[in-house]
Amino acid sequence: MTDRYAVIGNPIAHSKSPTIQAAFAASTGQDMSYERLLAPLDGFRATVERFAAEGGLGLNVTIPFKLEAFELATETTQRARLAGAVNTLKRIDGGWLADNTDGAGLVRDLMHNHGIVVTGRAVAILGAGGAVRGILKPLLDAGAVSVAVSNRTMAKAEAIAAHFSRYGRVEAVAPDAFGERRHGIVINATSLGMGGAAVDAFPFPGTIFAPGAFAYDLIYSDRPTAFMRWAREHGAAGASDGMGMLIEQAAESFALWRGVRPDTKPVFALLRPGA
Ligand code: ATR
Repeated sequence: MTDRYAVIGNPIAHSKSPTIQAAFAASTGQDMSYERLLAPLDGFRATVERFAAEGGLGLNVTIPFKLEAFELATETTQRARLAGAVNTLKRIDGGWLADNTDGAGLVRDLMHNHGIVVTGRAVAILGAGGAVRGILKPLLDAGAVSVAVSNRTMAKAEAIAAHFSRYGRVEAVAPDAFGERRHGIVINATSLGMGGAAVDAFPFPGTIFAPGAFAYDLIYSDRPTAFMRWAREHGAAGASDGMGMLIEQAAESFALWRGVRPDTKPVFALLRPGA
């Protein structure tokens, strides 16, 4: 019988995960199906339980269920616990193992696909929402010398800094308090510019970019995002959207489920023909 996997969310119609996972399955010769699962906003657990009863073996979890997936898990990886959020569930005896592959996906895209050196570099993260908790430790593990977390609501940046400073130099910096601080890698984790929305001005100082800096937007879009444009205007040497992170986190999930790491290059060509 074909092994069943799915991505669960609400909304889910536009998810690219089925395209990505089908390509991985084909290229690695794995006999598996991968579908979209729309869960009612108040019916995440019931939908997951039905999927399990039907023999489902694994799920990607997306908006707005990443926290509920954490609560539903019977086992969690360290990176899921640190993130406090889950993007991958794997069926285990009578329950679910929960993982978070977002940070690993980001770091892999930065290092392997863009050739960015993370080791020894100062990183700035703009935003302090759920996504930041998933990417912080992987950036420190990759050798980032420091991480400055800046956010409109400083209490959220401070809570994150307090939580993660045991793993490295993590500091909350108010948007107007960067002073002379420069960063080799600047990551946009705010929702500004999502869905191609116009952004009048990025509420962070354009001086945060060090010479040669790389700007990375967790948002993905077929056109340069508002953050990418702003970064280039302020001297970033390179800029990327988050498509590569999406593909690499999917590869990490696939590896957890199937024990095989797929080659991601053909999937870039599939989703970004001509790029
Ligand atoms: P996610 O879980 O994807 O990280 P989120 O938790 O909704 O998303 O976080 C959105 C981020 O975008 C937050 O850092 C938010 O700042 P606040 O914590 O101050 O709300 C940031 N954000 C959204 N709209 C913004 C705006 N107009 N100006 C500045 N920051 C904004």
